[in-house]
Amino acid sequence: MLSDFRASHVLMVAAALLLSASADLAAAAAADPAKDQELFTKAWPIIETSCVGCHGPDKQKGKLRLDTRDAWMAGGRDGKVVTVGKPESSLLIECIKYQAKKEDQNMPPKRKDQLSADQVAAISAWIAGGLPWAEPKAAKKKK
Ligand code: HEC
Repeated sequence: MLSDFRASHVLMVAAALLLSASADLAAAAAADPAKDQELFTKAWPIIETSCVGCHGPDKQKGKLRLDTRDAWMAGGRDGKVVTVGKPESSLLIECIKYQAKKEDQNMPPKRKDQLSADQVAAISAWIAGGLPWAEPKAAKKKK
């Protein structure tokens, strides 16, 4: 009897320890505002400068806007442009790498405006990190 009780007590303690360990892991994986801010701050100005003129409040080329997170998620004429967490399977990344299957989807359209490898990397990292929109106000700015 007593040893049964001991055994179940040990099990309960072990289960409690496991639970608290997984709670810690979950907390570590949850949003890190400083990291989110960094990803956003590196990537958003590139989009704002190079893309929003044709994909924003004034024009929606390819039926796509890139000035809010919701708009990114809504996609364009060909549907989804981004898979959050997976830049490698995001149409938008193919476009800015000038590797779009439809040649006229290479972005920005003028080759002389093509983004640098560093700029592409900043946008990839932003998508990989969940596309955090750290400053919604910046994105809502109207002309
Ligand atoms: C000079 C205007 C212009 C600029 C600047 C521009 N685009 Fe585009 N974009 C277009 C046009 C036009 C299309 C439609 C191309 C087509 O399908 O023929 C398009 C289409 C797209 C598409 C595909 C949408 C769909 O569903 O078909 C993506 C993704 C895209 N652009 C991303 C970007 C990104 C990212 C930038 C900035 C790096 C950018 N664009 C800059 C004009 C522009």
